[in-house]
Amino acid sequence: MNKKEHAIDHLAIIMDGNGRWAKKRGLPRLLGHRAGVRTLENLVYAAKDRGIRYLSVYAFSSENWTRPSMEVSGLMKLFGYYARKKLNDLKREDVRVRFAGRREGLPDFVVEAMDRAESETLKCSSIDLIACFNYGGRQEILDSVNRFIAENPDKPLDEDSLRGYMYVPDIPDPDLIVRTSGEFRLSNFWLWQCSYSELYFTDVLWPDFDSQMLDTAIESFKMRDRRYGGLR
Ligand code: IPE
Ligand code: IPE
Ligand code: MG
Repeated sequence: MNKKEHAIDHLAIIMDGNGRWAKKRGLPRLLGHRAGVRTLENLVYAAKDRGIRYLSVYAFSSENWTRPSMEVSGLMKLFGYYARKKLNDLKREDVRVRFAGRREGLPDFVVEAMDRAESETLKCSSIDLIACFNYGGRQEILDSVNRFIAENPDKPLDEDSLRGYMYVPDIPDPDLIVRTSGEFRLSNFWLWQCSYSELYFTDVLWPDFDSQMLDTAIESFKMRDRRYGGLR
């Protein structure tokens, strides 16, 4: 077994199930999201301890705007609040914070919190936390193609060039994509980058996910035979 093959450089997580977690407890959905943020905090440090260099998390999809406006504005506030409040902790833990997604359409206070988190953690290098916020995989592909064409009107487009125009161009594709809450779909996440990602699904709702469950996912990943279309 090739060791490199089973190292996780990039772990991606679809943090799903906050609403159902809250509903089970008779709580408003936003309390589920709040609990989900606490889980994320623990998981960032757990991933760092396990030598994972890039952790990307799906926090708000381009389709999540269709939710009731109260939930959407609650999520915006929560996101902006945590991006500010946790900045010192993240810096101390040497976490570089980055974002993937469209900034257009987001409230100013959210964009400001994002810019600040990115610039203040620019030199941190133990782990990159990529928050996919207002992110859609199809939108990312379209935005990248359009930017490429605008800047290179006469050049043919190929895979390597397009990669350079993705939202976060300098990170490897996810080795493993974990989705919680028992749904078996990608919901528009990392569509370009997921071509050879291993997938792991668990019924656990995101606020209940912990570092032991992360280890179970990693163990499952280690058993996979990544063939990339070839023979062995
Ligand atoms: C995931 O939890 C977080 C976001 C999409 C923002 P959900 O809010 O989708 O929770 P469920 O799927 O309704 O339980
Ligand atoms: C995917 O979850 C998006 C995030 C986790 C942010 P959703 O709950 O929005 O996905 P669907 O609607 O069940 O596919
Ligand atoms: Mg959901």
